[in-house]
Amino acid sequence: MRRVDVHDKVSVKDIDLRMTLRLLSFVRPHRLLVVIALAAMALATGFNLLQPYIIKLVIDENLVKGSLAGFYGYVVLFGVAVIGRNVFSYLQMVIVTTLGQRVILDMRKRLFKKVLELPLSFYDRNPTGRIITRHISDIEAVNEMISSGLVSVIGDLVMVLSIAVILLLLDRSLFLYTLISIVLLLVFAHFMKVRLRETNRALRQNTAKMNAFLHEYIAGIGVVKGFGREEKIRRKFRVHNDDFKRAGMKLSTLYSVYFPGVEFISALALVIVLFKGGLGVIGGTITIGTVIAFAGYLEKFFGPVKDMSDKYNILQSALASCERIFTILDMKSSPEYGSPPASMRLPHPEEGGTAEGAPLIEFRNVEFDYGGEEVLRTFSLSIDQGEKVAIVGPTGAGKTTIVNLLLGFYHPREGEILYAGRDIRTLDIGGLRRKVVLIPQEPFLFNGTVLDNILGGEELDEAWLDVTLKSCGIVRFVENLPDGLNTFVGERGSRFSAGQRQLVSFARAIYHRPEVLILDEATGNIDPETEHDVTSAIKKMMEGKTSIVIAHRLQTVVECDKIAVVMNGKVAEEGPHGALLRAKGYYSALYGLQITS
Ligand SMILES: Nc1ncnc2c1ncn2[C@@H]1O[C@H](COP(=O)(O)OP(=O)(O)O)[C@@H](O)[C@H]1O
Ligand SMILES: [Mg+2]
Repeated sequence: MRRVDVHDKVSVKDIDLRMTLRLLSFVRPHRLLVVIALAAMALATGFNLLQPYIIKLVIDENLVKGSLAGFYGYVVLFGVAVIGRNVFSYLQMVIVTTLGQRVILDMRKRLFKKVLELPLSFYDRNPTGRIITRHISDIEAVNEMISSGLVSVIGDLVMVLSIAVILLLLDRSLFLYTLISIVLLLVFAHFMKVRLRETNRALRQNTAKMNAFLHEYIAGIGVVKGFGREEKIRRKFRVHNDDFKRAGMKLSTLYSVYFPGVEFISALALVIVLFKGGLGVIGGTITIGTVIAFAGYLEKFFGPVKDMSDKYNILQSALASCERIFTILDMKSSPEYGSPPASMRLPHPEEGGTAEGAPLIEFRNVEFDYGGEEVLRTFSLSIDQGEKVAIVGPTGAGKTTIVNLLLGFYHPREGEILYAGRDIRTLDIGGLRRKVVLIPQEPFLFNGTVLDNILGGEELDEAWLDVTLKSCGIVRFVENLPDGLNTFVGERGSRFSAGQRQLVSFARAIYHRPEVLILDEATGNIDPETEHDVTSAIKKMMEGKTSIVIAHRLQTVVECDKIAVVMNGKVAEEGPHGALLRAKGYYSALYGLQITS
């Protein structure tokens, strides 16, 4: 398999047929538009190519001969050609833009769906910033390619080839002479194209580096200032900035050679036509009209050749973008987004009760790692309906991991996890996550009001909201907020203290009527002012509910029905507070330490 991690590198590869075909599969549903666009393009090109020929006819038939035969007809025809060309160009542009928008709408939809479905382990490896870039810049590149590239590249090719044929038919020997400048132009364009592509890529990489740099240091500005590192950062920035400038300068130097170069070569072609054509006219082997038409066609010929390298660049970067988009689309979704095989699909926990006497939650000999060192080995734990279980243990022992497994964010390598007697892999995981609600150490609040955050998208049920606030013991807290429930929490809840955010997240959890409540170090970094509110809220919330409490401070676990000490990947000690104290193991030592300090 190709590497899974999303990388910023722009791969330099010649047009990849496979990628193009896959992109075309996104275009296929809109093939009618493509057909219309191609037809419009063909008509526009036809009308465009008609013009020099009409001029030739007028010169040779009317002007040179001093005759009016057919003159008015030619003039009208020329007018029709000009109007037709512009009307069909307009049509082509409108259709192609529509096509581009439709394709990227689809692509964005698919990509975002995938972003939601990817397993958490993907996000462990990939910073969120790059995922956003994927969305915006890659899709934009694809759009640009479709709306300014795809059809017009075909149009350009048709145009260039038709002109070559027309020139050949008009006058073979004159065509052979102009071929010198055409070949010269193609060689020059190719030579420049390679350099332009490399420099463009360097510039893009510099842009990515610069963005990453700015993003990191602006996000960490507090630390930068706090440690007085402004000068160092400024120096680092200067290096990036200089690199950036160098790539930018090189690119503009290249372009300032490229465009005049192409102008020069096309002027050379005109000189050849003027010279050989002039001699031909004087010698009587060629008509004036043919020479002028030749010049007209050459002009139309060099236009597309001139921006071919630009279009090639667009195509290249769009294909690189496509590759990255497809890499993400091809990643495996988290298992819960595929439907389990029919033989394994069992009823929702709600549909059948817990088997008589079976625990509500059971870990059986679970083994797990995140891809490196083993985190859990032969881990077993059972929790009964209504039981309050505490999990304690040193940092890094795997307490949070246990929760991640129970919620199905990761799957055990060995062993099984049962909910109401059923392997959670066979359950509707969305339903399970609505029943088993996790309150993490750092709750995430979305920008909005306190009420928005409590409802979390659910309907407002006033009576239940009252019950919720009461059962979390936060009625007074809400009343003291400047706008009560309508107080805005700021981006990520930035206007609230950690403790206040935690209280809101409690209400959110309770409002959703969880069956099991998990608190993972929920009192971990609470300010002393709200600590009392938070602990009493926790106590109230847990009344009569199956709960799992992970805590550093042992005061909060003393009252639990059962305490499990996790060490070395398994449950080392298990039992109520009193029994564990008497056992004189890790727990009693830890408790002794905390009491005396
Ligand atoms: N997403 C992750 N990817 C890789 N390793 C992880 C990840 N999360 C935790 N770990 C590792 O797994 C071990 C257990 O972590 P964790 O369950 O968070 O411990 P605890 O919550 O008990 O402090 C640690 O060694 C930690 O470094
Ligand atoms: Mg933890």
